Amino acid sequence: MDAALRTRLQQMPKAELHMHIEGSLEPELIFALAKRNGVALAYPSVDALRRAYAFTDLQSFLDIYYAGASVLLKEQDFYDMTWAYLQRAHADNVRHTEMFFDPQTHTERGVPFATVIDGIYRALQDARQQFGMTGALIMCFLRHLSEEEAFATLEQSLPHRDKFIGVGLDSSERGHPPEKFARVFARCRELGLHLVAHAGEEGPPEYIRTALDVLHVERIDHGVRCLEDAALTERLARDKVPLTVCPLSNVKLRVFDKAADHNLLKLLDAGLTVTVNSDDPAYFGGYVNDNFVQMFESLPLEKSHAHRLARNSFAAAFIDEAGKRKYLEEVDAFFER
Ligand code: HPA
Ligand code: ZN
Repeated sequence: MDAALRTRLQQMPKAELHMHIEGSLEPELIFALAKRNGVALAYPSVDALRRAYAFTDLQSFLDIYYAGASVLLKEQDFYDMTWAYLQRAHADNVRHTEMFFDPQTHTERGVPFATVIDGIYRALQDARQQFGMTGALIMCFLRHLSEEEAFATLEQSLPHRDKFIGVGLDSSERGHPPEKFARVFARCRELGLHLVAHAGEEGPPEYIRTALDVLHVERIDHGVRCLEDAALTERLARDKVPLTVCPLSNVKLRVFDKAADHNLLKLLDAGLTVTVNSDDPAYFGGYVNDNFVQMFESLPLEKSHAHRLARNSFAAAFIDEAGKRKYLEEVDAFFER
């Protein structure tokens, strides 16, 4: 890839729509928070922890990801984690970010819901003030837990309804189809929340279909396995259902063997509204610009693809039409240069 395209990828205005804030906890911060909170870690050093980031599949990652999150106890911890990500995203010219958070990972350990959301939300407000970055929170239900537990989490979240815009579904996909959460998503829909779900990352295309038909989600997180089903792919293209794709995550979790095998270009060529995102940047080897650069280095992607991906990121965002128009004009102006 030539230097001009690389610079363009880094400098282009973009939105990030698929990242788990707990997945932005860098090993150094995990150790600093463990020390601050007196939490014992199973790893003797930052290097030893980093060496453990050799994943074979989604579950092998999740086990370490939940262990890393165990150092988060106080509101300030959630603030510090989120602020570190927002500074990093700002450096990547992220203008708008929609962050997932996993309350159940913390409330299960006795951390109050308010502690979690207040710390994250305060950092988001500071980013708006200091960087002019917009953003929002999406609360994820852990799909390896029961729908009843998701309902209990929704109940706890309601006093904080003004601090998040939607709900999602994450954690272990296989064996936990979207329809397991049909009733709680129906309730969230009544509450006027935006709806998204992880589907078709490790799970089959059928999970993408039930996420759409049973949960009525507006975006599919990952969705890369849709190409196994031609009718589904056509439907996603026709209905402009955004797919929030996370290339480095897919390679690290062995959805694809190597970057050059990723189907990002095939998804674009199928007419899908694809976006590029970092998922869990501290664990998967890079933030959003690293995801762009590695894909453009590994696949025959060009300036026109960069333009389209930047446009898609704002088109797929949960922002009002006027805000969207402003961002899209900014992207188009950037690509006229
Ligand atoms: N998939 C499912 N659950 C997750 C992920 C992911 O990539 N990251 C954090 N929770
Ligand atoms: Zn994810």
